[in-house]
Amino acid sequence: MIKATLLSAIIALTAPVAMAAGKKGAPIENIDFSFDGPFGSYDVNQLQRGLQVYTEVCSACHGLEYVPLRTLGDDGGPMLPEEQVIEYAKQWEVYDAELDDFREATPVDHFPASGLETAPDLSLMAKKRKAFSGPYGLGINQLLNGFGGAEYIAALLHGYTGEEKTQAGVTLYENKYFEGGWLSMAPPLYDEAVEYADGHSTSVEAMSEDVAAFLMWTAEPKMGARKQAGFASVIFLTLLSVLLYLTNKRLWATVKKKKA
Ligand code: HEC
Repeated sequence: MIKATLLSAIIALTAPVAMAAGKKGAPIENIDFSFDGPFGSYDVNQLQRGLQVYTEVCSACHGLEYVPLRTLGDDGGPMLPEEQVIEYAKQWEVYDAELDDFREATPVDHFPASGLETAPDLSLMAKKRKAFSGPYGLGINQLLNGFGGAEYIAALLHGYTGEEKTQAGVTLYENKYFEGGWLSMAPPLYDEAVEYADGHSTSVEAMSEDVAAFLMWTAEPKMGARKQAGFASVIFLTLLSVLLYLTNKRLWATVKKKKA
C-alpha cells in the first residue's frame, strides 16, 4: 500500500518535469564571446557588424525601442563617430508629437518599435532568454560564460531544420532551439545576406554571432563599467579585510599579553 502510494507520488512529481523536458529546445553550446568572463568586454568591430545585420535584416520586423540612437557612439559600445551616428539616425522615421507627424530621427531619438506586430522588441531579448540551465546555469560556469542569452539568439538563428507547417493560417518553422520546437519567424539569415566592410565571414553562423553580440550590448550596454566596478570592489574589500585583521590584532594585543 505504502509502496503504491510512494510510487504514484514519485510519478506525479516527475511526470510534469519529464513532459516539460520533451518540449524544451536542444542544449545550447557555449560560444567564446569577447564579453564573457569577469574581465570580458565587447568587441567594437563585432558590435558594428551586428548593428549592420540588425539594420539590414532584423529591423524589417523587430524594433529596438528602448535603445537611444546616440548610444551607438558610446565608449564600450559600437563607438561610431558622431557624424556617423547622425547619418545613421537619418534612415529611421519617428513620430513627433509636436509636429503630429513622422520625421527623420536624430541621435536623441530611440530606434523605432517593431514594425511587425507579432515580432517582439529585441532591446532586452538577450537578457530575457538564457541558454544554460541546470548545473550549467549555476556558479562558476555563469561567472565564466554568463547566462547565455547571446548564445541562445545565435543558436536560434541557425537552428532551423527546414521543416514547415501551417497552423490556423500561420506558417510555422521548425527550430531545434526554440521552446516548443516551432516558431513563426522564417529563417531570417542566409549565407552572404550582408556584405561586411571588414571582410569578416558572412556565413549564417558568423552573422548570427555578430548580431547576438550586438543584442547583448543593447540589453546590457554598461557591462564593461559593471565588471570594472565589481573588480575594483573585490580589490578594495580584500585590502580592507587585511587592514581590519591587523587592526583587530593590535587592539587585542595588550589583553592577550596579560593573559599569558
Ligand atoms: C520577417 C520578419 C522577421 C525578421 C526579418 C526577423 N524576425 Fe525575429 N521574429 C519574427 C517573429 C514574427 C517572431 C515571433 C516568433 C514566434 O514567437 O513564433 C520573431 C522572434 C524572434 C526572437 C524571439 C525568439 C524567442 O525566444 O521568443 C528573436 C531572438 C528574434 N526573432 C531575432 C531575430 C534576429 C536577430 C533577426 C535578424 C537576423 C530577426 N529576428 C529577423 C519575425 C522576424
